[in-house]
Amino acid sequence: MKKFLAPIFGLALFAFPAAAQDAAKGKEVFEQCGVCHSADTDEKKMGPALKGLFQRKKLADGKTDVTETTVRKKIDEGGNGMPAYAEMLESKEKANLMAYLKTL
Ligand code: HEC
Repeated sequence: MKKFLAPIFGLALFAFPAAAQDAAKGKEVFEQCGVCHSADTDEKKMGPALKGLFQRKKLADGKTDVTETTVRKKIDEGGNGMPAYAEMLESKEKANLMAYLKTL
């Protein structure tokens, strides 16, 4: 039994950090968003500045709550000049991106 469990435990240890969200990797993903969004100033480019996004109560429309779900939806579906990233980014890239956005 011991012999059987050890490799499984080893695998779990290996897999966990790999699955965790990684803000540093998210920052790399964000490079393609930076053309239209400022991450470190309030300057509006093509799209609204994302500095302090998760510290805000509402999105730029003034009525949608800022939550992981609503931000993710905007990234997936786009609209009003924002490209839809549902097919363009892998879910892991999006998870990393969300981790990064939360640091802004
Ligand atoms: C071609 C320019 C462009 C690119 C590239 C772009 N966006 Fe946007 N984005 C916009 C525009 C324009 C809006 C405003 C849309 C609206 O008002 O509905 C927006 C809105 C948003 C919002 C909602 C902000 C708010 O306060 O309402 C988020 C979050 C966002 N974008 C994230 C991203 C992320 C993450 C990426 C990269 C994966 C990205 N965008 C790439 C143009 C862009």
